[in-house]
Amino acid sequence: MAYNNIVTDTKGPVGIIRLDRPKALNALCAELFEELAEAVDIFEKDEAIGAIVLTGSEKAFAAGADILEMQPKTYMDVYKANFLTGMEERIDKCRKPVIAAVAGYALGGGCELAMMCDFIIAAENAQFGQPEIKLGTIPGLGGTQRLTRAVGKSKAMEMCLTGRMMGAEEAERAGLVSRIVPLDDLMDEAVKVGTEIAKLSQPIVMMCKESVKKSYETTLTEGLMFERRLFHSTFSTEDQKEGMSAFAEKRSPEFKNR
Ligand code: CAA
Repeated sequence: MAYNNIVTDTKGPVGIIRLDRPKALNALCAELFEELAEAVDIFEKDEAIGAIVLTGSEKAFAAGADILEMQPKTYMDVYKANFLTGMEERIDKCRKPVIAAVAGYALGGGCELAMMCDFIIAAENAQFGQPEIKLGTIPGLGGTQRLTRAVGKSKAMEMCLTGRMMGAEEAERAGLVSRIVPLDDLMDEAVKVGTEIAKLSQPIVMMCKESVKKSYETTLTEGLMFERRLFHSTFSTEDQKEGMSAFAEKRSPEFKNR
């Protein structure tokens, strides 16, 4: 598929989406958002794809929503169009694992897009931030919510109120990223993890993702019950029988996604 702002590719069972709008440091314009949503849809429907890696360039994952596009918009424009909502829902509702491989700037909507993914692998040069306050606005793609849940109130509040950037090491210490890798290894590592996940049972992976996500949105008691019921339901799958039999028989499992 030919796009203007992204490039898609596959590496075995991993779908790769690369944000590719270098003249604006991958700023998230409306067309890019649409293309991204379409690419996620296509990979999600493709049974051969077990995980998706979302990445940008070495200089920028994405430097935020497109400021020049937003600048002339009125309140009525953004309210009536429910600006950004469809995009957020699309990525957030993707049932397959989405890994953000972040190098360079992940600012504003770029940081928020990375946080919408299931986990973030960061290159050593990654810089995260919510600089919207410096533009006279606030994060609008989940920054005040997801960053707070990821790093806690104090750091999220400081980041959102000052707009300062945090580097990869601070982001890893704070729990925003799962790990840091050298810039040159970023895609190999992300694809390697995606491939490992894609070799597992896809429906069980989906259940696991659903259960972890639930912890964001519910009380501990309800979350534990949700997890327990999903756990129970895995016992109705062929893949759970295969996984446990393979362990008992000291061989590798062959999952059938059933
Ligand atoms: N929107 C539109 N264009 C952008 C952009 C953005 N978010 N970020 C960078 N660009 C463009 C610049 O305008 C510039 O274009 P020209 O060459 O045509 O002038 C080009 O990308 C390169 O940028 P710089 O020359 O500024 O590069 P730099 O290396 O000197 O600085 C930077 C890099 C610190 C990331 C700087 O570009 C910057 O501060 N960008 C804006 C970051 C920001 O405020 N993001 C939040 C946006 S609001 C938002 O995202 C709302 C939300 O929550 C949804």
